Amino acid sequence: MNSVDFPRVDGGRLMERIETLGRVGMKADGSCCRLALSDEDKLGRDLVVSWMRELGLEVRIDKVGNIIGLRKGIKDLPPVMTGSHIDTVGTGGKFDGNLGVLAGLELVHTLNDAGVETDRPLAVAVFTDEEGARFQPDMLGSLVYAGGMGVEEALAVRGIDGKLFGEELARIGYAGTMEPGTLVPSAFVELHIEQGPVLDQAGESVAAVHNLQGISWQEVTVSGKANHAGTTPMSMRHDAGYGAARTICFARELALELGGTQVATVGSMRFEPNLVNVIPRQATFTVDLRNTDEATLKEAESRLAAFLHMLAEEQGLETSSRRLARFEPVEFDRKVVSIIEESAAAMGHKCRRITSGAGQDAQMLARICPTAMIFVPSVGGISHNPTELTRPEHVELGANVLLGTMLRLSKA
Ligand code: HGY
Ligand code: MN
Ligand code: MN
Repeated sequence: MNSVDFPRVDGGRLMERIETLGRVGMKADGSCCRLALSDEDKLGRDLVVSWMRELGLEVRIDKVGNIIGLRKGIKDLPPVMTGSHIDTVGTGGKFDGNLGVLAGLELVHTLNDAGVETDRPLAVAVFTDEEGARFQPDMLGSLVYAGGMGVEEALAVRGIDGKLFGEELARIGYAGTMEPGTLVPSAFVELHIEQGPVLDQAGESVAAVHNLQGISWQEVTVSGKANHAGTTPMSMRHDAGYGAARTICFARELALELGGTQVATVGSMRFEPNLVNVIPRQATFTVDLRNTDEATLKEAESRLAAFLHMLAEEQGLETSSRRLARFEPVEFDRKVVSIIEESAAAMGHKCRRITSGAGQDAQMLARICPTAMIFVPSVGGISHNPTELTRPEHVELGANVLLGTMLRLSKA
């Protein structure tokens, strides 16, 4: 398929949909807050489903709220699927996840306008709770879809606000009836913003994602002894807050020491009783470790466990940790990667191979079908932040590369 024989997307129309969805759940500071299964997530889902229906897609919803929009093919075959997520972190941007879903709708709109039929059906998926910010693990919807977690187990997950996943899903009206994973795609391709600095710094416009980091999330609890901040001599303290602070420094130094792709983040923390003049009795915080190499990720986990053990002995504290998510690194499908490179070349763009530092729904779909991703640049490498930005020309290019890739994959 050369560069002239398929229609082009309407980049302006796609940007308009991105802006419209971006206004759903927008806060005063311009960030998007559509935590999974929240009222704002419902509004975003309702909007996307209305667009799916306007485009003539058959809309199916499964038992964990994954939404699949299906465009008929000439042949009754497994669909080729694209899509992503529309739930956000608390300080989200307009592009993370949304780009992949809305580019899928733009492909359908473009093919409808051009009267193009494909051998295979096309599917556009919206996976539930990719971010994992409210209900862990992240990529929960696509994990269930790929058979990595049972429906009942998912419905029983309690969020950081104490609410039950299953109850919130029913409350927003997205507890569907379809068994997750009933529709096994022939291939899955996800368009996503890079969320890192590589393409922006290199001045490049598109990349084929060939692998993805392993992820380890845990909640650590350090317990000490509450005491008077003024009267307790330093030598007599069992300060959980100090233990937490030492752990944050250890995690960062460990990542720097291991080097390579190792990263470590303590993103959320709370003290008990959290008062200015009381030595903290307890500190509860999350540790996010990632690496493209499984053995090194395992080493990082065991080094952290050993540190916590040493800290407890040294400071007379108790430490414990609860696993929130653990996914091994993923290699994407070489054939799909090369089709992405072909599509980019047909658009006149060179296309490097790149690693995804972020977790993605594609890493779960890779368990059940040939899968890969397309990245477009994030200005300044910024994401999970209201200033997240991908330029319109890169949005349009990414959607055209996705279209070329999906058309190649849709041939029976
Ligand atoms: O955490 C991640 O990498 C993704 O944004 N869920
Ligand atoms: Mn994302
Ligand atoms: Mn994200």
